This record gives sequence, structure tokens and C-alpha cells, in this order.
Amino acid sequence: MRILGLVLAAGLLAGMAAPAAADAADGAKLFKKKCTTCHRLDETGKKKVGPNLWGVVGRPIASAPGFRYSKGLSKHKGKTWTEENLDAWLTKPRAFAKGTRMAFPGFKKAEQRAAVIAYLRSAVE
Ligand code: HEC
Repeated sequence: MRILGLVLAAGLLAGMAAPAAADAADGAKLFKKKCTTCHRLDETGKKKVGPNLWGVVGRPIASAPGFRYSKGLSKHKGKTWTEENLDAWLTKPRAFAKGTRMAFPGFKKAEQRAAVIAYLRSAVE
């Protein structure tokens, strides 16, 4: 039983470190399922309903050339898509930017947001 306890404790610790070590492979699957209807993620710069997300982690908010952003998201111009901002955005886009045109309700689970952000970051590397 003591060993089991240790294993469980180790598992808990690993779970706590999850946001840093988020699984980009899980993120890739989520992205394909939830985001590719509206977003491309490649160097072409081509848009769909939403802007191309190539290099979006660390990119200035609402800055894709030739994309017409909503007023709500444009209000955040001058700020950067840090992981924190992306996390807030993907929790509930409408709360982050009132009147946004991104018709995606958000991910309730922090692991899902972290995985997608890890994927967005890793795709560029
Ligand atoms: C139904 C279409 C749709 C879906 C699904 C969607 N998006 Fe979007 N996304 C948009 C639109 C439209 C915008 C521009 C929003 C605005 O101007 O208010 C946007 C903007 C963004 C931005 C800001 C980009 C920038 O250049 O500032 C990010 C980041 C983003 N989406 C990530 C995602 C991710 C990750 C997913 C999947 C979990 C997703 N989106 C799903 C349509 C969508």
C-alpha cells in the first residue's frame, strides 16, 4: 500500500506539472477537430474564416496581414498572444473579446487549452 501511495503521489505531482509539459500531440488532435474548419496553420499566410495561426504564440494580437478583425478583438491590439492571453481567449473567446467573430465556445478544461497552445507553439519549431 505504501508503494501504491508513492506512485499516486508521483502521479499527482506529474499532473500538477501538466501545463508546462502539455502534450502537443493531444493538441494536434484537438486542433484538427476543433479549429481547422476556420483556421490554417502554415506558412502560406492564407486565411479561412479566421486568420492563419502560424506563429501565433508570441505574435501581436489581431495582426495577421489582410485579415479584418472584429472591433472586440481589435481592442486588444498592441498586446501579445502570450500563453496567458491565449489561455484566457481559449477559455471563452466572447469573454476575452466582446463581440468577437470567432464562433467557438471555448475549452473548459485547462489541459485542453494547454495542449492546443503547446501544439500551436511546436508546429512552428
Ligand atoms: C467557427 C470558426 C472558428 C473556429 C471553430 C475557431 N476560430 Fe479562432 N478565430 C475565428 C475568427 C473569425 C477569428 C477572428 C476573431 C475576431 O476578429 O474577433 C479567430 C481568431 C483567433 C485567434 C486570434 C488570432 C490573431 O491573429 O490575433 C486565435 C489565437 C484563434 N482564433 C485560435 C483558435 C483556436 C486554437 C481554435 C480551436 C480551438 C479556434 N480558433 C477555433 C474563427 C474560428
